[in-house]
Amino acid sequence: MNKKEVIQFILQNKSMVVQRDNVKSFASANIALCKYWGKRQLDLNLPITNSLSISLANKGALVSIQSQSTSHHLITVNQEILPTNSNPYETLSTFLNYFCGEERVSVNIDLNIPVAAGLASSAAIYAALVLALNKRYAWALNHQSLSILARLGSGSACRSIDSGFVEWYAGTANDGMDSYAEPLPYHWPELRIGLCIFNHKPKSVSSREGMLRTVATSALYSAWPEKAFKDLVAIKTAIAEKDFSVLGKTAESNALAMHATMMSAWPPLWYATSETLDAMHQVWACRNSGYDLYFTQDAGPNLKLLFLERDTAMIKEKFSGVDIINPFEPWETFDDA
Ligand code: PMV
Repeated sequence: MNKKEVIQFILQNKSMVVQRDNVKSFASANIALCKYWGKRQLDLNLPITNSLSISLANKGALVSIQSQSTSHHLITVNQEILPTNSNPYETLSTFLNYFCGEERVSVNIDLNIPVAAGLASSAAIYAALVLALNKRYAWALNHQSLSILARLGSGSACRSIDSGFVEWYAGTANDGMDSYAEPLPYHWPELRIGLCIFNHKPKSVSSREGMLRTVATSALYSAWPEKAFKDLVAIKTAIAEKDFSVLGKTAESNALAMHATMMSAWPPLWYATSETLDAMHQVWACRNSGYDLYFTQDAGPNLKLLFLERDTAMIKEKFSGVDIINPFEPWETFDDA
C-alpha cells in the first residue's frame, strides 16, 4: 500500500463533505526519550524500532482550516504566507490534497517552538492538522487511526496525537496498520524538561535525509536496533517505578548513541554546535556535583534537559534562558473543542 491507499483504507465509509468550516486544533510537540532513527519503509514513515516520547504540554502547533476559493491552498506559518514554490508548502499541500480532494483550503499554523530546528515542530504540525481535519469532516476517528494518519505526514507526529509519555510501535505489517502510538498510563508531576534553544534556524540536513544516510552508510547502525530495544525496556521500567536516575541516564545514553550513528555516517552528520557541547559539559559538571540532571538531543543543536522539580532553581541559575516545561501540567490549548 502507498500513502494514498492507506488513507483511503482508514477513511472508507467516512464523509468527505465538510461538516464544520473554520476548525482549530492544537497538538503538543514531543521529545523522544528513546529515539526513532531509521525507517523500514520510506513512503509510510515506518520505523525500524519502537520509540518513546514525552510531550511538551503547551509547546506545539495550533492549526486552523477554512475553505478557500482560490486555485491553490493558502498556507500561513506564524502569520507568514508560505510561497507556493517552497519545499514546506509543497510537502504540506501534497498532504492536504490526500484529504481535501478538489477543495482548496486556507491553513493557519501558529507555532510557539522554532520551525525545523530539532524541536519536533513538524510532529506538532501534522498531528494538529490531522486533528483539525478529523473535526472538519466529522470523521470521529479513534486515536490509533489519527496516529497512523499523522505518521504519514511526519514519523514522530504519530506520538503527538496523545500527551504525556507515549510509545510508538514499529510494527511489522507492510501497510503500517500496526505502527501507531499509544499513551502510557503514568503521570510524573515532578518531571521537568528544560529547553536550551541556541539556534532557531532550520537544520541543514532534514531528519528524513539524515536517517537515510545513516542507515545506508554508518557501520555503527547495525548496533542501534538492539540498543534502542534495551533502552526502551529500561525507560518503561524507570517510568513505572519512578526511577529518575535510570530514566535520565538511559535517555542521555540513547541520544548519544543515536548521534554516534550519525557521526559515523558518510558524509558525516553533526548537529551539535559549540554551545551544545558547552551545555553538555555543564550538565556533566552538575552531575559530578551530585545533581540528577541529564540531557537529550535531536536532529538539531538545541539541548533538552531532564530533571526534577526540586532542582528548578539550580537549573535556572546554571542555564540562562532555559525554558522550563512541566509536561503534566494542564495547559490552555486554544483548541475549539
Ligand atoms: O519524525 P521526524 O522525521 O521529524 O524524525 C524525528 C527524529 C528525531 O527527532 C531525531 C528522533 C525522534 O524520535 O523524535
